[in-house]
Formats: sequence, C-alpha cells, structure tokens
Amino acid sequence: MDLTKKKIFVLTGAGISQESGIKTFREHDGLWENYKIEDVCTVKAFFKNRDYVNNFYNQRRKDLKNPKIKPNNAHKSLAILEKYCKKYMLVTQNVDNLHEKAGSKKVLHMHGTLNKAFCMDCNFNFELNFDLSSSYACTNCKNSGNVRVDVVWFGEQPKHLEKIYRFLGDIDIFISIGTSNNVYPAGGFIDYIKQFGNGKTELIEFNLEKTIKSNLFLRTFIGPASSTVPKFIKKELEIS
Ligand code: APR
Ligand code: ZN
Repeated sequence: MDLTKKKIFVLTGAGISQESGIKTFREHDGLWENYKIEDVCTVKAFFKNRDYVNNFYNQRRKDLKNPKIKPNNAHKSLAILEKYCKKYMLVTQNVDNLHEKAGSKKVLHMHGTLNKAFCMDCNFNFELNFDLSSSYACTNCKNSGNVRVDVVWFGEQPKHLEKIYRFLGDIDIFISIGTSNNVYPAGGFIDYIKQFGNGKTELIEFNLEKTIKSNLFLRTFIGPASSTVPKFIKKELEIS
C-alpha cells in the first residue's frame, strides 16, 4: 500500500500518550478513577468550584513540563507519515502537546489543549503558561473568575468538527490509535465513514486490547502503540 498517494485520517486518544507517562482516562488508575468527570470536566463543575477545576488542569499542564514526559515512537512515526502524505489529517482527543513536540505540524485538538485559556465573558483567548486561579482577571474585559482552560468539557461542542467531517467523507485510510472510542463524536467517526464514506476506506485500529468498535475495523493491531504504529508506518512507507 503506497501511503504517500492515499488520503489519510488519523484519530488519536489517550493511549498514544500512555507510554510517555500521561495517564489515560478509563483504564486502571486512569484519571477518571481519581477524579469524577462531573467534578472537573463540566461547566457546572467550574461554576461550583472554580479553583478545584483550575487546579486539576494546572497540575496536568505542570505534568507536561516534566522532562520525563516526552513523545514516544508512535508520536514520532506520525510526524514522519505527515511529511510523506499530501492529503493527511491528524485529529487528537488529547489535550497534551506531544504530537507537536514529536514534529507533527497539522494537529487538530478536537478537545482543546492544556496550553490555552479563554475568558467566558469576552472570548479573549491566549497561550496559558501560568497557574490559573479564580482571582485572575481577564486582560481584555478585566472581569475575573471566568477565565478557564481551553479544554472542551462534557456537554460542550468539540472543535473543528466541520473541517473533520468534510475530510472524513472521502478518505482512503482511517487510522485509530489508543482510543477506547467510548466518547462521541470521535467514537462515531468510524460509523460516519461506514455510513457516508466512499465505501473503500481501509479501517485500521491500534490498541492494547479490543475496543467496542473493533468489530468495524478491517485490521486491529494489538500491542503498545509505540511499537505497533512505527512498525506499520515503516513497512507501508517502505522506509527503513
Ligand atoms: N498503546 C495503545 N493503546 C493504548 C495504550 C498503548 N500503550 N495504553 C492504553 N491504550 C488504550 C486503552 O486500551 C484504551 O482503549 O487507549 C485507550 C484509552 O481510552 P480512554 O482512557 O477512554 O481515552 P480516550 O479514548 O482518549 O478518551 C476519549 O474521553 O474523557 C474523555 O476528553 C476525554 O479525550 C478523552 C475522551
Ligand atoms: Zn474577558
């Protein structure tokens, strides 16, 4: 399969960053085992206890500064794939910056990122490189208390959906890496392709185990993404 001539869509989830030291959500000792989604990942939670939510994200952003947390070979091989492919889209559900650190240039963070913030009163947004607190006043409208991390919370509209669905409708290869495909709309991209796609899309999944959507994929490579993904890409791109 000559990937260079193919139109490729890649979806990644927390599993691609797991070997880099970032916790996933739904696995044993994952994030949602230590925090309740309704306490840190909804607008209601934010209004109920702004600084509890701010500190949850402050800590996750601080973790990204840990020199031990760096891109693994799965992130790096996607950065290589991007260089070879003309028609390519990488969509991540992750809010970390490991794809960019690995060299990926075109990354759509459909759930936002830890390194950005915005004011809910005036929509002013900015790069976030300090710990947010409820006393922080927006530099634009001067209001304080409603500046928050630019991460998409449950019940909010994920980002870039129009661009994503426009691309998804006519692709040659759909690659899903390290996601349980539990959360929509990302979890439904494969159903969308099956229903509205061109009928010839190759559906490939990389995970440590079978997921609820594995039955829809043509091939599922079971194993750690840092070895299964580079092996696949090197073989298909015939690069050593
Ligand atoms: N290699 C490949 N897959 C892995 C690895 C690994 N090293 N480690 C874990 N996985 C797989 C797990 O088997 C699981 O299927 O990654 C998946 C992680 O699933 P989740 O924890 O549900 O994370 P994700 O699918 O990204 O969650 C989607 O849910 O809570 C929201 O906004 C949050 O973006 C997140 C969304
Ligand atoms: Zn403001």
